[in-house]
Amino acid sequence: MIRRGEKVPVHVTIIMDGNGRWAKKQGLKRIFGHKAGVESVREATEFAAEQGVKFLSLFAFSEENWTRPQDEVNMLMELMVDAILKETPSLVKNNIKFRVIGDISKLPQNVRDKISSAERETFGSTGLTLIIFLSYSGKWDILQAAAKYYSNKGKIGEMPVSEEFEKFLSTAGIPDPDLLIRTSGEQRISNYMLWQTAYTEFYFPEVLWPDFRKNHFRQALDEYSARERRYGKTGEQVNNL
Ligand code: IPE
Ligand code: IPE
Ligand code: MG
Repeated sequence: MIRRGEKVPVHVTIIMDGNGRWAKKQGLKRIFGHKAGVESVREATEFAAEQGVKFLSLFAFSEENWTRPQDEVNMLMELMVDAILKETPSLVKNNIKFRVIGDISKLPQNVRDKISSAERETFGSTGLTLIIFLSYSGKWDILQAAAKYYSNKGKIGEMPVSEEFEKFLSTAGIPDPDLLIRTSGEQRISNYMLWQTAYTEFYFPEVLWPDFRKNHFRQALDEYSARERRYGKTGEQVNNL
């Protein structure tokens, strides 16, 4: 249900953090935290669609996460394949478009195959777009964009125009996030969408990702709705628009 008079963000992005600490608190191995986090993904997706959010993006695995112990990385990959396989039919049913963004070339072939088929199967969906950032880093994105920009159109020695350069970022065509939520109380960007978050509103709840439920998401949207975005202007200018 969309609430009247509330500003609903077009694009919400979430850094899903705290899985390991959640597991530790219960005396479990870290992977159980990741497993429990899948339910939070399901609930966040459902809530975003209900609220009329157009893009929900989730940071699932960073470029730096490749340096974690090999068994954790392997189990995370397995978990993602399972989740994608299991959830694709309900994504199709709920008119949700699925996309993955990141340095896909580093992912195992079976993961890439599952991603491609889920993207293909949900390609015609016109509702919420669910984007998973996998093997992604903000610096990687800017660097790969620079490489493409200069091999396609840019002249060496000439500074790119921002709007032209952005077309080469991996997020081209997706509006910049209006709201970024990072769970678990950590207040940092950890090399996520560095370019795209230039004017994003940040929100840092203490809740660990596996405990993140619709009520936490609602609180984040309420907080967002109460904020004034100024983009460098004065409050008076913004209010007179
Ligand atoms: C986030 O949870 C998931 C990934 C980074 C893959 P963490 O695994 O970082 O959990 P903490 O931060 O150790 O609690
Ligand atoms: C950021 O979390 C990446 C994801 C949630 C996928 P990390 O747990 O890897 O970040 P740091 O290391 O605490 O900054
Ligand atoms: Mg973490």
